[in-house]
Amino acid sequence: MKIDILSDLHIDFYFRKKPTEDKIQSLYKNLLGNADVLIVAGDIGHYNKQNIQTLKLIKEVFGYRHILCVLGNHDYYLIDGSSQRNYNYRSFFRAERMRELINSVEGMYCLDGDIIEIDGVKFGGCDGWYDGEYIRRHFWKKDEEYMKGYISLLWRRTMADADYLFDMDWQAYAGLQKEKIRSIYQETDVMITHINPSIKKEHTHKKFRDEDTTGYFTFDGEEFLKNGSMRYWIFGHTHDRTEYKEHGVQCLCNPMGYPNENMNGNCARAMHIEI
Ligand SMILES: [Fe+2]
Repeated sequence: MKIDILSDLHIDFYFRKKPTEDKIQSLYKNLLGNADVLIVAGDIGHYNKQNIQTLKLIKEVFGYRHILCVLGNHDYYLIDGSSQRNYNYRSFFRAERMRELINSVEGMYCLDGDIIEIDGVKFGGCDGWYDGEYIRRHFWKKDEEYMKGYISLLWRRTMADADYLFDMDWQAYAGLQKEKIRSIYQETDVMITHINPSIKKEHTHKKFRDEDTTGYFTFDGEEFLKNGSMRYWIFGHTHDRTEYKEHGVQCLCNPMGYPNENMNGNCARAMHIEI
């Protein structure tokens, strides 16, 4: 089975309104195609309707049998007043609706702590969430109360998430997402989350290794990598292409990113695996 890997599509940065077949073809032609399955590891875009239109067109244009998604932090954003009103100032409502839209299309799945088996290969995943453990491990060694306060404060000061996530306790949510991973990690061949499952410095891009904000780009998934059944772990969120091997698990991230990071899509690269 051939599998294409992509994350962080950030669709609304590339298409003003409704995407067209021609635009999809020209934007993704060097990245996608000739595979049975596409994995989208979160951060699809800010608007559910545009997201589902784009995913459907990608499936048609590039002939995928299946598209497997998880959602990223941007897929929880309520980016403007009308989104905030539409979803009643609750990020979860938007994410739930996005999941329903994806799951309503034949051959498309939004993994939420479950496993989909395709031709004998078990794909498991959930959104995952950063947990701040990178900060605890590498920067401060203080008591739990201090650390919890510091991690919350730094998040509010540095992350756009603080402006666009509504009615959401992200630290509690990170714990819930870990429980979803725990329920499937010993049964999957390919694990998918939006967030990098390692807090080791060598598994992050060298330009951000010494930044404490890398705590909002990683979570401590050591126990899952060490004791899990997965051969691959696919993630996104960081906009740097990343590959590393940990406890025998091949960890891969192939982000599209924003137009100003990849010359309007021209420098984005394909990533495939074959199982
Ligand atoms: Fe993200």
